[in-house]
Amino acid sequence: MNAAIPLTQRLSGKVALITGGASGIGASTAKLFVKHGAKVIVTDVQDQLGRSVCKEIGPEETVFYDHCDVTCDSDVQNAVDTAISKYGKLDIMFSNAGISGEVDSEILLSDNTNFKRVFDVNAYGAFLAAKHAARVMIPAKTGCIIFTSSVASVVSGEISHAYVASKHAVVGLANNLCVELGQYGLRVNCVSPFGVPTPMLQKGVGIMEKRKVEELVSSAANLKGAALEAEDIAEAALYLGSDDSKYVSGINLVVDGGYSITNPSLGMVLKSHSSSTHPSQN
Ligand SMILES: NC(=O)c1ccc[n+]([C@@H]2O[C@H](COP(=O)([O-])OP(=O)(O)OC[C@H]3O[C@@H](n4cnc5c(N)ncnc54)[C@H](O)[C@@H]3O)[C@@H](O)[C@H]2O)c1
Repeated sequence: MNAAIPLTQRLSGKVALITGGASGIGASTAKLFVKHGAKVIVTDVQDQLGRSVCKEIGPEETVFYDHCDVTCDSDVQNAVDTAISKYGKLDIMFSNAGISGEVDSEILLSDNTNFKRVFDVNAYGAFLAAKHAARVMIPAKTGCIIFTSSVASVVSGEISHAYVASKHAVVGLANNLCVELGQYGLRVNCVSPFGVPTPMLQKGVGIMEKRKVEELVSSAANLKGAALEAEDIAEAALYLGSDDSKYVSGINLVVDGGYSITNPSLGMVLKSHSSSTHPSQN
């Protein structure tokens, strides 16, 4: 038996569109979705990379690249229409494209243009993806929309205001859509990753070596003994896109090994206080 073929194809017969699918989490998800029997339209603005990723994953009858800048209404409209004309329907919209923008975390140093750009891609792009997906899913009375938000939607104070606000906006949009679209049988959810060593994070921390970024993230992580990879987020998207989650709507699936529910500050202060007052115990 070929070990690469899963025992059950959890997306058999489904059609998915992935934005930001040429790299990182999007590319891993495209690969996993195809492995599970879906037909996938990979969209991005990195055309060359997107085409080569698709070529690696499978033949055009199964996985297809289309240029789509998520901030451009007609691009998103065309991508959804391409999914319909090529594969006949759209079951899953994975709105995943995103940018980190500038790393400035102080309000007085924050660049206004950067704020607008980050919102344009992360929040407005998600809105357009949802709008065009809903256009074809409402009449079909079936489908699901998955957004990539971030652990920044549940933890504050670590990244730029623009990025954090944009990822909160994505969760708000998902919740509101969940309420509106439930009547048509559509499910809407978010997946929120902790640090994943993708080109976005590698550029963000200024370290291009994937292994080093992985080590950096792991050292800050709550869960030890496992490193978060793009494939883990793809698995979460697979769950939300498959019928395994047929009654799951309106959740923000935080994939962070418990990072967002920890706060080590007090423990660290107490520990350093006790080592300074009782140095012999150390
Ligand atoms: N890597 C992390 O640590 C992390 C953590 C939390 C959330 N996220 C989110 O995950 C998503 C995927 O990011 P990634 O880590 O895989 O990074 P990535 O840079 O590898 O992938 C992002 C993709 O989005 C594409 N993109 C950017 N602007 C676009 C636009 N206007 N239109 C279409 N595509 C565009 C890029 O070309 C790229 O291929 C993003 O929404 C990001 O905010 C990432």
